[in-house]
Amino acid sequence: MTQARTDPRHARAAKGEVLIDVESVTKTFSNRDGEPPVLDHVSFSVHEGEIVALLGRSGSGKSTLLRCVAGLLQPTSGSVRHRGRTVEGPNPGTAMVFQSFALMPWLTVRQNVELGLEAKGIGRAERREKAERVIDIIGLDGFEDAYPKEISGGMRQRVGFARALVVEPEVLLMDEPFSALDVLTAENLRGELLELWGSEAFPVESIVIVTHNIEEAVLLADRIVILGSNPGRVRLEVPVDLPRPRDRHAPAFGRLVNRIYEVMTGRLPAEVVAPMLATPASVPLPRATVDGLSGFAELLSDAGPQPVAEIADRLSFEMGELLPVLDALELLGFAEVDAGTVALTDTGRTFASADIQASKRIFALAVLQHAPLVRLIAGAVAKEVDSTVKGRYFRDELNRSFSETEAQVQLEIASDWGRYAEQFSFDVDHDEFVADPDRDRVLVEGGE
Ligand SMILES: Nc1ncnc2c1ncn2[C@@H]1O[C@H](COP(=O)(O)OP(=O)(O)OP(=O)(O)O)[C@@H](O)[C@H]1O
Ligand SMILES: [Mg+2]
Repeated sequence: MTQARTDPRHARAAKGEVLIDVESVTKTFSNRDGEPPVLDHVSFSVHEGEIVALLGRSGSGKSTLLRCVAGLLQPTSGSVRHRGRTVEGPNPGTAMVFQSFALMPWLTVRQNVELGLEAKGIGRAERREKAERVIDIIGLDGFEDAYPKEISGGMRQRVGFARALVVEPEVLLMDEPFSALDVLTAENLRGELLELWGSEAFPVESIVIVTHNIEEAVLLADRIVILGSNPGRVRLEVPVDLPRPRDRHAPAFGRLVNRIYEVMTGRLPAEVVAPMLATPASVPLPRATVDGLSGFAELLSDAGPQPVAEIADRLSFEMGELLPVLDALELLGFAEVDAGTVALTDTGRTFASADIQASKRIFALAVLQHAPLVRLIAGAVAKEVDSTVKGRYFRDELNRSFSETEAQVQLEIASDWGRYAEQFSFDVDHDEFVADPDRDRVLVEGGE
């Protein structure tokens, strides 16, 4: 079943309009001085066509944040906007699914589902019809007249889903919807949710799901917002570019789960992990050759910080030619551009003044950390017994996000960078990337 990948909903994900905009939301419950806020300047957005997971430990403020999005709580400062409009009361464009199901025990399944519609003043016949449709989609038919206590946990949560979906919310909010269920039921419902998400009949534009389960976040989300505790801040946003349907046993899945785990447990700081989680699609390589960026770094190391426009003028460069070089130096951590002035960083200065072996080593470390495509190729060739991987393999991967021409350009830049870093070379005749036999040596030796 590869239908999810070609589903327009997923193709739309990257460029869908912003639906929810949480801007610098701070929430304090107590008026006492010195009490830390539960949420501290939290910002993130939700686009049409995407599933966003809010991931954090217990007490990090996930439920509080979700309630602010639903308009059930007002932020102490900052704002939540839905399609540009500030949310000042219950947000009619959202509906919530709770961990505890929150069903009325004295009402039947059908009556529970109709409840949300009643509150909206919708007439009886229309309520009936809408509830029927959702009950059918969710797989509750046959249970319409049962009471909550007569049905299983999984069925109860289906009622929870149906009650939220029947109002056709633009954004479906879910607060740990699977965590009160046993493992198998939870997995089954996750699968059903993803199937619904990929289908035309699903009346929802985006989903925000709160969870403390890393695997669940990686399985479901297009983007994961990781909240830290005390106070709750966004620690890291992680795009999940794994193709759907996702395989929990795929190495890339496991790697992502591990990295997120390292951020959440504080074993690795977010600044270190963020570049490691980036994918070739999220960090396109600037069109700069190693010669170009080395030459430019040397020039800066001789002359000190410079206004970019002046350099361009002096060297008779078009800005268009200069910018990719600057972008590359910035991406690799060799330079910083601030208010139109470019200056080398400490690493950049060392790179520019080092002898060739040391400069290769600094370059290798920088590309493996900051250039995801180079890292991907280096990792792939290192794993093969014969140390080669067909170029086609990476081209296919890149074609998912880039045009064919741009994919080719990306591969050429990666080849140039990877060759200088002594990680791999590209054999044009055989369309093959080949591991450099010195690839490990360059990282540990090289002198300083
Ligand atoms: N209405 C409230 N009044 C006072 N404090 C509150 C209120 N709601 C939440 N808090 C506090 O805010 C903090 C964050 O709570 P919240 O329920 O948002 O966290 P959470 O990340 O959803 O946790 P969990 O994973 O346990 O559900 C907690 O310390 C909680 O005690
Ligand atoms: Mg909670």
